[in-house]
Amino acid sequence: MLMREKIRELLTDAAQKSGLARGLVFEVSYATDTKFGDYASNIAMVGAKALKSKPKELAEKIIANLDSSMFEKVEVAGPGFINFTLKLSELQPITYNLQSKSKGKILLEYFQPNIAKPLHIGHLETAIIGDCLKRMFLYLGYKVESDTHMGDWGTQFGYLILAQKKFDKVNDKIYAELNADESQREAAKLEFVKLEQGDPENRKIWQQLVDTSVKEFLQINDLMDILPFDHHWPESFYEDKMSAVLEELKKKKLIVESQGAQIVNLEEQGLGVAIIVKSDGGTTYLLRDLAGFLFVQKEGFKQHLYVVDNRQSLHYKQLFAILKLIGKIEDEEGIHVDYGFISFKGEALSTRKGNMVLAEDVITQAEEKVAKIVSEKNPDLKDKQAVIKAVTKGALKYFILKHNRHSDIEFDWVEVLDFEGDTGPYLQYAYARLASILRRVIPDSIRNPDDRILNQVQDDNKISATERELLFKLSILPEIVEDALKDYMPNILANYLYKLATLINKFYHESPVVQEKDEAKKNFRLALILKAQTTLGQGMSLLGIHALEEM
Ligand code: ARG
Repeated sequence: MLMREKIRELLTDAAQKSGLARGLVFEVSYATDTKFGDYASNIAMVGAKALKSKPKELAEKIIANLDSSMFEKVEVAGPGFINFTLKLSELQPITYNLQSKSKGKILLEYFQPNIAKPLHIGHLETAIIGDCLKRMFLYLGYKVESDTHMGDWGTQFGYLILAQKKFDKVNDKIYAELNADESQREAAKLEFVKLEQGDPENRKIWQQLVDTSVKEFLQINDLMDILPFDHHWPESFYEDKMSAVLEELKKKKLIVESQGAQIVNLEEQGLGVAIIVKSDGGTTYLLRDLAGFLFVQKEGFKQHLYVVDNRQSLHYKQLFAILKLIGKIEDEEGIHVDYGFISFKGEALSTRKGNMVLAEDVITQAEEKVAKIVSEKNPDLKDKQAVIKAVTKGALKYFILKHNRHSDIEFDWVEVLDFEGDTGPYLQYAYARLASILRRVIPDSIRNPDDRILNQVQDDNKISATERELLFKLSILPEIVEDALKDYMPNILANYLYKLATLINKFYHESPVVQEKDEAKKNFRLALILKAQTTLGQGMSLLGIHALEEM
């Protein structure tokens, strides 16, 4: 059990003994400053309302009824908060039983590029956020499977097929030209309808386009160290699953004819009108998503998460609203994990395609800049190319993950690549520093760092405030991941790791290791370094960032 949960249990117990009802909703959070303790709870504040008593008095009462054997100090603070300081011996990493989460299977959908279109920065974003969420779910023992839901169906394929037929090639310029011409637009729609009806020539062209693109897209797994996808259920996968949904909607009398199209009216929910089948008979993106949700549900998934940018908010609201109307979805079973827009600050990116920022260009430019910095900092580095690649990915991933995903972000190279700032390279640097100390001094006595730390903390006057703080921070990684997954916010983990790395650096400057004369102190510090290295490395791997031994 996580420490926070344990404190919650102890409090629930004490609250009951103090006359409070069992179902009381209260918080256990981290103390705002280490000088107040490790954890804090508002239980007496909310409880006092229920009992119509004074929060401070209730807090005292709860403390009196509390089994406080784990704590060095439990105190009332401010208007009635309770602050907890753990005994040093409790800062031992408990062997968390992380494999015990018995929730249902989750389908996590991310990285959904469109066939025959280049990858742009937004695709990097969904891939990076989705991959981080998957890693965190796995770490906490959830059953999660990923799906790259490629856009390989829909009216745009009419354009691609038309372009292929007319010009024997497909590109954005042709696409735009066709799109600008009313009669070509009609022709393109017809080509898609023909494709849906199984026209052999159109099928063949489509298949070729798909095959080339998919191969190219899946390079992302290597290129950005994205975990392999468990499923590849692109839009076309739902081709034969759409008519059943349409029937169901008709049976439930939800479909209305409007100007030749078949729609579901969601005005009552304030969500406008949802087009299910177009007036030319072509199926819609929404219909495929309806079919997709129901298919995934039949496969036994209890939750379907979609990592897609926030311009599609209305689409997902409509999707979930329709599923609700047919009684197929409960709250939280479908979630749009949305994210904002990335713009570029200062130095413009050499975009080949108008204002679209291509993923490839971002990566190439980042790599050039990183190569320069790394060569300056450490000209004799072995394995330089591998380090450059890892630092590039780390910088890009961290920059995206450290932001609250709801907000738009402004991409600024200076900020992305500041080795001393809140960046991926900063984490990698902190890790490499720990690795370098351990390379110089690895006494056999710290083979088992947890025991070593435990021995030392019995004798607590040898431990500095920074070391104490570090021990605590190292013990809460699983809680932080839990917090990050609550609303699918990787930034919570990223921000924690930044603070952890900062604390590690502070400890490094304050507490000498190699020169330390006191053998016990020295061994304790080494054990702490080993522990810090493992935990930081673990946290970085959850962000999908490589820990480097040297950089
Ligand atoms: N391919 C779509 C796009 O680029 C995103 C697909 C999102 N996933 C979904 N199930 N609708 O706009």
